[in-house]
Amino acid sequence: LIVRPPDPVERYRLARRDAGLVVVEGIHALKHAVRFGAEILDARTADAARLRRLVAELAPDVADAIRGLVRPTDRELFARLAPSPHPTGVIAIARRPALDVQAVLERSEPAPVVFLERPTHHGNIGAVVRVAAAAGAGAVLVTGDRDPWHPAAVRGGAGLQFALPVTRVESLPSTDRPIVALDPAGEPAAAGAIPRRSVLVFGSERTGISGALLHRAERRVAIPMAPGVSSLNLATAVAAVLYAYVPR
Ligand SMILES: C[S@@+](CC[C@H](N)C(=O)[O-])C[C@H]1O[C@@H](n2cnc3c(N)ncnc32)[C@H](O)[C@@H]1O
Repeated sequence: LIVRPPDPVERYRLARRDAGLVVVEGIHALKHAVRFGAEILDARTADAARLRRLVAELAPDVADAIRGLVRPTDRELFARLAPSPHPTGVIAIARRPALDVQAVLERSEPAPVVFLERPTHHGNIGAVVRVAAAAGAGAVLVTGDRDPWHPAAVRGGAGLQFALPVTRVESLPSTDRPIVALDPAGEPAAAGAIPRRSVLVFGSERTGISGALLHRAERRVAIPMAPGVSSLNLATAVAAVLYAYVPR
């Protein structure tokens, strides 16, 4: 009996559609994945010498681990592992961490939970994950049909999906946390005025927050803007709120 190793092109293609796996593209995303304890199932580079230089410069703390994980792969094969190969010449498949959303919401530790209602852009979702990780948020929860673990969101988040709980949910579960809606039509809030243990609700790039979620919120808070400006970019709004409105 001859057991053939799985075809790498097919393996990466299937991993993109597998809800238990994630394709990690680029050195920054792989660095954070390894630093925050991801289980890496396969990792490849088209340029082993360049990768050695990059990890020495950008990720010395995990350089040995990355060098031990990544398998050199010829350029022609590497180019077929992603629709648009990452310029840093590295790609991996990792397992998505399991997550209990109710347990995350029930945590007594007062880190804010960022809730995105039906975001449309994977790059925006990634940017939200990145700033949420940086600001010490407790989780990022997302409704709608965009996957916060999509390879484009993981690129945008520099792999920081592995640094805090991140998942798609059907809707906002019931919670004892204060629910605060961030809405350009809300009341301007003072700096530091949003309690740390809140759920911070942000709306879709196009349509804002739904009536149902606005109804559940106990407050609607606006980030002040100059006259004539309708709204901030979603990830920019999340950054402003986490850094300026939630006490640290
Ligand atoms: C691009 S905006 C959506 C704009 C949408 N047309 C609206 O009217 O809400 C995406 C989300 O970012 C947040 N946001 C943007 N600018 C904001 C502001 N000035 N104050 C509070 N939240 C803001 C809101 O949660 C908003 O739903």
